[in-house]
Amino acid sequence: MDGLDALKVKYLTAVANAADEAGLEEVRLAALGKKGEISLKMRDLGGMEPTQRQAAGAMLNVLKDEIDAALRAKKAALADTALDERLRSEWLDVTLPGRPRPRGTIHPVSQVMEELTAIFADMGFAVAEGPQVESDWFNFDALNIPPEHPARQEHDTFFMNRAEGDDRPPHVLRTHTSPVQIRAMAEQGAPIRVIAPGRVYRMDMDQTHTPMFHQVEGLAIDRNISMANLKWTLEEFCRAFFEVPSVELRFRASHFPFTEPSAEVDIRCSWEGGQLKIGQGDKWMEILGSGMVHPKVLTAAGVNPDEWQGFAFGMGIDRIAMLKYGIPDLRAFFESDLRWLRHYGFAALDMPDLAGGLSA
Ligand code: DAH
Repeated sequence: MDGLDALKVKYLTAVANAADEAGLEEVRLAALGKKGEISLKMRDLGGMEPTQRQAAGAMLNVLKDEIDAALRAKKAALADTALDERLRSEWLDVTLPGRPRPRGTIHPVSQVMEELTAIFADMGFAVAEGPQVESDWFNFDALNIPPEHPARQEHDTFFMNRAEGDDRPPHVLRTHTSPVQIRAMAEQGAPIRVIAPGRVYRMDMDQTHTPMFHQVEGLAIDRNISMANLKWTLEEFCRAFFEVPSVELRFRASHFPFTEPSAEVDIRCSWEGGQLKIGQGDKWMEILGSGMVHPKVLTAAGVNPDEWQGFAFGMGIDRIAMLKYGIPDLRAFFESDLRWLRHYGFAALDMPDLAGGLSA
């Protein structure tokens, strides 16, 4: 059979020159496809003498195998080149330094709110909320502080401006979290166990007062709740919060219009070398106000005082944050000084939980 050598050169060159898989496939079709040159020559074998056919058939098969092998080898080589190219373009230097972690920190007030929420949640208290711009009925009247009551003056209230002729009820920036007691009872009725952490406002500014600060209100109403339950709850809280094995609380008789009887609560502590230690020593530090919810307060919130009774307390969050974390000046809490925030702030992923140790 003539021309086989020329065919061999032609296709082996074409294979060698194919630039990509598509080009290679074209070469394959031209040589070995149904209508390819080699395939057509195979067909010619039918019209040959048997001896001629045998010789030509053998030569054609060898040529076909040779071209086929060249095609496969080239295909593999093209795939290797493509992979090398991808590896080169997708190269990544794993020794580059990592991205710096976020610089922000959790503010001590946020941290303490999370901590106390975790502790009270463990005792069955849900979190309740109320508005910071509050009607003076919720902030005062419903809490047994009528307009002429001297306690109103003591609160150094910020009053909201009202346009001439606006006869909506007067509003104030809430002076304490106690109005949330009323809202929670009015919404949920009794029995109820809630805490209400949040911002409160008073017109006051010195080393220990800022016009905005944080309180947490506590409220537990049921059929038989007593001062003993209040004492146990507060002791449990202080032990968990200050992370000391024992705390001692002192209940001092006091007066709040919304509780009867009322008590202020002090915690035993010591001051040595400027270091405050909770749970030991011979000093007492006031940390909260509390008492048995006044029947008039229950009535204002739609809860029947002949059927239900319970305790409430209000505690300064900034205060206990200062005590726990040894932060000396209250005003620095709200100055947004980055150095202070980095020093006293907490890592973003250290969410406090009781099992892991609150502040660990
Ligand atoms: N609302 C009081 C304050 O701001 C704190 C307080 C005292 C809250 C006694 C209470 C309570 O619920 O029973 O000073």
